[in-house]
Amino acid sequence: MEIFLDTGIVDEVREASMMGVIDGVTTNPSLIAKSGRGQDEVIKEIASIVDGPISAEVIATDWEGMIKEGKELAKIHDNVVIKVPMTEDGIKACKWFSDNNIKTNVTLVFSPNQAFLAAKNGATYVSPFVGRLDDVGHDGMAIIDEIRTVFDNYGYTTKILAASIRHSTHVRDSLMVGADVATIPFKVLKSLFKHPLTDVGLANFIADYNKANKKA
Ligand code: G3P
Repeated sequence: MEIFLDTGIVDEVREASMMGVIDGVTTNPSLIAKSGRGQDEVIKEIASIVDGPISAEVIATDWEGMIKEGKELAKIHDNVVIKVPMTEDGIKACKWFSDNNIKTNVTLVFSPNQAFLAAKNGATYVSPFVGRLDDVGHDGMAIIDEIRTVFDNYGYTTKILAASIRHSTHVRDSLMVGADVATIPFKVLKSLFKHPLTDVGLANFIADYNKANKKA
């Protein structure tokens, strides 16, 4: 499974990139707003750090507007993936981008039917929002599992990008149900490295080494 970093903060991208584990980055208008910077400059800087797909979201809600904005975003860097919302206009724009060899990420996906329509129109990625489904009492991971079955049943090559990941269990479950990618906030990425038994075990090894090598 690929790991994308879900952030608009360039310093986080830089640090995660040094870890060597990230394959791409996703942003959205809320994440870009948190950075306090403009989308274009943030995307340009991220592209100079990470050699992989970088999702940048359109703000327009009509398909002509989405295409206009998406064409401009795609000019920033070859790795830019155009994020469009899961609406009739978004899916129409998705087809246009796909026909014109521009990669897309259909966002705000909450059902297998929505994912199916996005795949039918050539989406490169679909982003089911696991955490937001959990927030309203649904089983977010079950939706990923169902989308996996739909795509495998019909041979769709659209990648399932597990989004709205809130904790390490979401990452583990994404791996278990066969998501192609998980986009992960920086804090959650850091938590994946940790286990209390690793810390205890390491402290014991170092203590034993020091005891055995104590100078008389
Ligand atoms: O990529 C979109 C996703 O990150 C949204 O996450 O936590 O705002 O539901 P969240």
